[in-house]
Amino acid sequence: MSEPETNPALTDGVLVIVERTVNPYLVCFHEPNGFRSEQIRALRNRLTVMNPDGSARSLVITSAIQGEGKTATALNLAMSMTELQDHRILVLDCDLRKPSVETFLGLNRGPGLADLLQGSTSLDEAIRPSGIPGLDIIGAGSRPKNPSELAASRRVDELLGQLKEQYNYVLLDTPPIVPISDAGILSAKSDGTLVVVALERAARRMVKEALEQLESVGAQLLGTFVVGIRGADPATDERYRYTWDGEAKE
Ligand SMILES: Nc1ncnc2c1ncn2[C@@H]1O[C@H](COP(=O)(O)OP(=O)(O)O)[C@@H](O)[C@H]1O
Ligand SMILES: [Mg+2]
Repeated sequence: MSEPETNPALTDGVLVIVERTVNPYLVCFHEPNGFRSEQIRALRNRLTVMNPDGSARSLVITSAIQGEGKTATALNLAMSMTELQDHRILVLDCDLRKPSVETFLGLNRGPGLADLLQGSTSLDEAIRPSGIPGLDIIGAGSRPKNPSELAASRRVDELLGQLKEQYNYVLLDTPPIVPISDAGILSAKSDGTLVVVALERAARRMVKEALEQLESVGAQLLGTFVVGIRGADPATDERYRYTWDGEAKE
């Protein structure tokens, strides 16, 4: 293929910053001052208030089923956390079957978690800058044959231990809870779990089942984050808000 026709960076000596294709739902990237980014900051603040001594550093982001906004929430939350003074955040793509952290950020797929857990790459190689100051990622890596076994392995505990020494928060983007066991296993290995609920997507019984599964594995449930009400004005619609265990209303 020939070079793109317009490349002023080369032809005119002009510096061009090419914007990567960052997923439009990464509101903390596209509209950091918008209402939705403020909601993410409110979520971040609730989580940090719940963790006053900063000891809880690994946080699972999950949901009952696929497509509820786990990855978008994990990355938005991570970006909002980088705004905290001197904070370094890592997002770990634990959705080994349908990875999307790299795609959301417009990055190429690279070596990642599956390779790390199988010993075929080093931590230094797997950790990559996201392009957002203070935020690194580890992608899912090569597609493994045995994702649930990898999630359950002792190597995950060691890895989380190492990452928690290097980062203020490690956010684990996980597969959905109801169809597969990985998120429950990872929740049990992590300091806290946040459940994303897309109200127009997951049936109530599925959310209930997901919460029950998390409780049964001893997950530290921090709350639920409600997203994605189509056609509603998030600024005024009462449904477009987050709720917390113990405060949730019908
Ligand atoms: N707040 C939102 N409202 C509506 N759609 C969203 C929202 N956040 C993400 N999406 C879109 O919904 C799809 C699923 O989001 P994603 O974060 O990948 O979900 P999951 O990780 O739970 O499978 C993506 O195509 C994404 O662009
Ligand atoms: Mg996802």
